Amino acid sequence: MTVLDRIRWASRPQGELLVECVGAARVHGRGPGAVAAAHGVHCAVHRGDRIALSGPSGSGKSTLLHLLSGLDTPTSGIVAWPTWRGSPAGRPGLVGVVFQGQSLLPDLDVAENVALPLLIAGVPTDAAALAAGAALATLGIGELAAKLPDEISGGQAQRVAVARVLAARPALILADEPTGRLDRAAAHRVVDVLIDTADELNAGLVIGTHDETVAARMRTSWRMADGRVHTGASASGAGLRGPS
Ligand SMILES: Nc1ncnc2c1ncn2[C@@H]1O[C@H](COP(=O)(O)OP(=O)(O)OP(=O)(O)O)[C@@H](O)[C@H]1O
Ligand SMILES: [Mg+2]
Repeated sequence: MTVLDRIRWASRPQGELLVECVGAARVHGRGPGAVAAAHGVHCAVHRGDRIALSGPSGSGKSTLLHLLSGLDTPTSGIVAWPTWRGSPAGRPGLVGVVFQGQSLLPDLDVAENVALPLLIAGVPTDAAALAAGAALATLGIGELAAKLPDEISGGQAQRVAVARVLAARPALILADEPTGRLDRAAAHRVVDVLIDTADELNAGLVIGTHDETVAARMRTSWRMADGRVHTGASASGAGLRGPS
């Protein structure tokens, strides 16, 4: 990315606001044992954003991603999705979350796992199967389609979870450590696919990651420490696809 590209990118018109946090906090438990997993959080994600969310283990990255997805609610403050007029939770196709832990349904094969969100959204079975196959192929794991989750490796399961999100073509993609169990080459490919898909959909993309090489490929860097998010820093830009 050249200096001129950077200036153009910094002065771009901002895309549609997808989600914002205003003084949001998430406290687990009560009394002396309470844990403020996130507090005083002010942040916003627009269409076209490419954000790396980094920070030490326990700093609140997963907590923030769950708040942004609507799957968790703040104990104080506001998390809002202005264009969707309410939480996207339970409304298929708006937000896709790649969870940090194992999230595949054990009794469904890989292709069925990937197709499930589409079927829930009302997509006909044939179209859902086609989209699932295409997403698996894009991630280079088409041959796993008929396997059950306990017949594949942890890294393969992680890629299936990415395929499941991308097949549903969401407007906001939240990926929590999507490369944590992958080798360097596979991690690079998963980030390529996440960026390409986000570009194609003009989606907002937030990747929670400990991996600096992954973070450096995003345009914006957010850092979490002790439940607070610092949204000011710019990433180095190495490996970027360039402004769109
Ligand atoms: N359900 C829960 N009940 C109690 N405390 C919790 C719960 N979930 C998270 N926490 C605590 O909140 C804090 C933030 O956790 P979180 O999982 O968001 O961190 P993280 O940055 O994603 O960590 P990692 O990099 O290890 O995934 C930690 O201190 C954690 O122990
Ligand atoms: Mg986490």
